[in-house]
Amino acid sequence: AAETATLTLRAGSSGPVISREIYGHFAEHLGHCIYGGLWVGPDSPIPNTRGIRNDVVGALKNLHIPVLRWPGGCFADEYHWKDGIGPREKRPSMYNSHWGGVVENNHFGTHEFLDLVEQLGCEAFVSVNVGSGTVQETQEWVEYMTSDAQSPMANLRRAHGREKAWRVKYIGVGNETWGCGGNMRPEYYADVYKHFNTFIKNYDRGFRVQRIACGPNGDNYAWTEELMASAARQMDGLSLHHYTLPTGQWGKKGPATGFVEDQWFTTMRNTLLMETLVTKHSAIMDKYDPQKKVGLVVDEWGTWYDVEPGTNPGFLRQNNTLRDAVVAGLNLHIFQKHADRVTMANIAQMVNVLQAVILTDNEKMLLTPTYHVFEMFKVHQGATSLPLELKSPDYVYGAEKLPRVSASASRDAAGKVHVSLVNLHPTDAITVTTTLEGVPVAPVSGRILTAAAMDAHNTFAVPEVVRPVAFIGATRTGDTLTIELPAKSVVVLTL
Ligand code: AHR
Repeated sequence: AAETATLTLRAGSSGPVISREIYGHFAEHLGHCIYGGLWVGPDSPIPNTRGIRNDVVGALKNLHIPVLRWPGGCFADEYHWKDGIGPREKRPSMYNSHWGGVVENNHFGTHEFLDLVEQLGCEAFVSVNVGSGTVQETQEWVEYMTSDAQSPMANLRRAHGREKAWRVKYIGVGNETWGCGGNMRPEYYADVYKHFNTFIKNYDRGFRVQRIACGPNGDNYAWTEELMASAARQMDGLSLHHYTLPTGQWGKKGPATGFVEDQWFTTMRNTLLMETLVTKHSAIMDKYDPQKKVGLVVDEWGTWYDVEPGTNPGFLRQNNTLRDAVVAGLNLHIFQKHADRVTMANIAQMVNVLQAVILTDNEKMLLTPTYHVFEMFKVHQGATSLPLELKSPDYVYGAEKLPRVSASASRDAAGKVHVSLVNLHPTDAITVTTTLEGVPVAPVSGRILTAAAMDAHNTFAVPEVVRPVAFIGATRTGDTLTIELPAKSVVVLTL
């Protein structure tokens, strides 16, 4: 007999508001994320607005991108912003030591990034260089971007063609300072953080820049403990990075396509670690910050596979399949469940790198299965989360097991209730018997993302293999909603 999960949705009560910024993105100077993916330059035959690709921006706008983190990543701690302003042909080049050993011409700099942010209509999150930069460099960069005074840096910005200060909502103070950002101890970094932070000023009197401190690597709870104990009062957010590797090994991570069930299972298991990480880091943060003033900012998350055969290993180019869509749904549900503490998350990375929502090949562009999950889930952005109780049978694989169904619900500003569901089982459908409390009777509509193969993916030749279609598997009778959830599927319902 088909197995059943039960779900009770309490729409009469309200949980915390789901920060829009949980749906954030990350774009680094890495491979073809910036160059080729977002930036082609004003002279390119590829249609662009001041050098930024129109097709990519158009597709991203449809996701209602709330925030974009830039310029890295490990790259941020080698980046000297003054090399990326002024006439492009005069900008000095630099060596991108982390990513493919390529020479970076600095054509995409502060003005180009903030132009992109304005075209997308999102918030800017700038990671400053702590690893190899100076406090003065950071202080001047923030002044350059955000001051409207007749001051040296604001005037330099004007000299380069931008009169008005930009709005930069977030400044990240160092990236992975426990690793590529300087291999620091948490005690040392806590002091470095406070030092840099002292010189990040609020030039716009009406607006306080939000400061994000570098948080732990995965399960390094001692890092969180130290940072919260020493610097919680000086920060608005603490970051967390967790990548999903099918094998859990950096050497041989596993392929993006052509994998077997074993790798499907371990990918799901490893991605669900996010729940443990968020729960445990939040518990430490609760100790030092019971009022939850400091957000947990998961500013790098996503799948990380072996690179596409034949590509530069430093470019982190990978394909994106239905498995990635399921991973995205699971992680977004985890962030929403912890909406009281998780204020932002940034998928790595936006275009052409790791779990990208868009892939490009010269003038061609495709939307990945992950893109479609972000598009389907955008109804949750800024909505009020609704409490739910879910009892799910397990997906048993060998001696291990995982809960098969994951769900999340919210009420939007117009009062509409949305429920998203994921069935992570690769072969078995499941019935979800749902009890609705406080949801007025109305027709149910929905969309589903699924496919026959675990590694179904879109190609430039056939770009719509995996795309959302109308879902007709939900039937409401009174306050009972019966949902027939196919194997390996992501569904969003409007009740
Ligand atoms: O996203 C790729 C890299 O992963 C980032 O540069 C770094 O912060 C992390 O290790």
